[in-house]
Amino acid sequence: MGTITFTQPDGTSAAISIRPGNTVMEAAVAREVPGIDAQCYGAGVCGTCHVMVAEDVAPLLDPPSQWESDILACLELAGPGSRLACQIRFAEAIDGACFTVPERQDAIA
Ligand code: FES
Repeated sequence: MGTITFTQPDGTSAAISIRPGNTVMEAAVAREVPGIDAQCYGAGVCGTCHVMVAEDVAPLLDPPSQWESDILACLELAGPGSRLACQIRFAEAIDGACFTVPERQDAIA
């Protein structure tokens, strides 16, 4: 079991537990983290699990697939460090990582 933290747009943070192999989205939804809508629950098509990853965490993750990059390109609030939480599978390397929730989620599908 590991721990990840979500920071909300108002600056508040909350740490939650996550099982190895689960995605960041799955952990967020299970703990009802505000702002992670995950409308397609991991199908990778809605864009509503958008999070921003800290600069020091990004290199620890598998790079986004072309599909994920294409979805992110459709999101108005996406920028450097943006990822889909449903495409980030937890591993020990990112234990303690922090993910920032955007001001809003814009569904694209
Ligand atoms: Fe829909 Fe991640 S949950 S894209």
